[in-house]
Amino acid sequence: MGKVFEIAVIPGDGIGPEVVAEAVKVLNFVTNGGDKEVNLTTYKLGAEHWLETGETLPEETLESLKKHDAILFGAVGAAPGDTRIPSGLIEREMLLKLRFALDHYVNLRPSKLYPGIESPLANPGNIDFIVVREGTEGPYVGNGGSVRTGTPHEIATEVSVNTAYGVERVVRDAFARASQRERKHVTLVHKHNVLVHAGHLWRRTVEAVAADFPEVTHDYLHVDAATIFLTTDPARFDVIVTDNLFGDILTDQAGAITGGIGLSASGNINMSRTYPSMFEPVHGSAPDIAGQQKADPTAAILSVALMLDHLGLSEESKAVERAVEKEITSRQELTDHRTTSEIGDAIVALLA
Ligand code: NAI
Ligand code: MG
Repeated sequence: MGKVFEIAVIPGDGIGPEVVAEAVKVLNFVTNGGDKEVNLTTYKLGAEHWLETGETLPEETLESLKKHDAILFGAVGAAPGDTRIPSGLIEREMLLKLRFALDHYVNLRPSKLYPGIESPLANPGNIDFIVVREGTEGPYVGNGGSVRTGTPHEIATEVSVNTAYGVERVVRDAFARASQRERKHVTLVHKHNVLVHAGHLWRRTVEAVAADFPEVTHDYLHVDAATIFLTTDPARFDVIVTDNLFGDILTDQAGAITGGIGLSASGNINMSRTYPSMFEPVHGSAPDIAGQQKADPTAAILSVALMLDHLGLSEESKAVERAVEKEITSRQELTDHRTTSEIGDAIVALLA
């Protein structure tokens, strides 16, 4: 027995447990035997758990999660329109709380158009880029308030927080990732012609960090232009680095052009490794298809690949990615749709 990786698993609600079951199948398979072992601990959290217990994320659960090497997360949230759960409660008090408390400053979202997957774009080209979205600052920190609330004189503020420290660490991460990729190119996306204070901090930081990565080229796009190019020429992108809000929006667009929500993986990463990073499919709990074995577990399985890479198991990570790619190709030939567990089984079979 060699290194033991302690992994916390949060299946969550809806299709979360279904896709996580397949992700765990794959994780167990690739880490089985040899010089490593994974030890999984499951945590019950989410909307259902809140209904049963009134708990969102208790302090002792957070402390217990901190002791792990990584977290595998499914999805949380009730059906839209379920009035038993206050809107935004689970998102704010559980999901966002985890990302901030565990200092997940790199929100990593790869976008790849796999062979055989249909893009809504007529000429998608060879889409293969990653978005490095800042995860702990920007307009998402809750730095605001309102006065005269609910009156005609209401004033509401939502101040975007950008620190030199926070911007530098995420920009450095983007350049480091680019230096490991074939095209070695970083695109900063912001809006520094209008958002001059934050925008120029980002611009100057990119210029300073770029000096440490002479092999990486870089350019800049305003966010509005970036949405045009993501539609007309997404193949031009290699690594996009951007703030929390722009990254949230661009990664939804990126997911859409690469053929869908069932394939998009993400990592909420703490590169300083002071706390565990968390890996999750981009999609939500999909209450409309929950419990029917209709969910595509590929996004959750690709999240495992990101997790393996973060844990230093890059061989295993690449093997999972290759198996996913082959499964996607093989499913084109089927007349019936594969069920959730059939996709997981097919990927494990390809790994064998
Ligand atoms: P959603 O992503 O759950 O579903 C949107 C649509 O995509 C649905 O038609 C669903 O059936 C489909 N879909 C999602 N994942 C799929 C998969 N793996 N395979 C096949 N089809 C899939 O978004 P929605 O409906 O807006 O939200 C449902 C709940 O999930 C809400 O409570 C929301 O707050 C929560 N949510 C949670 C997230 C998280 O835990 N990180 C992220 C997004 C939403
Ligand atoms: Mg989003």
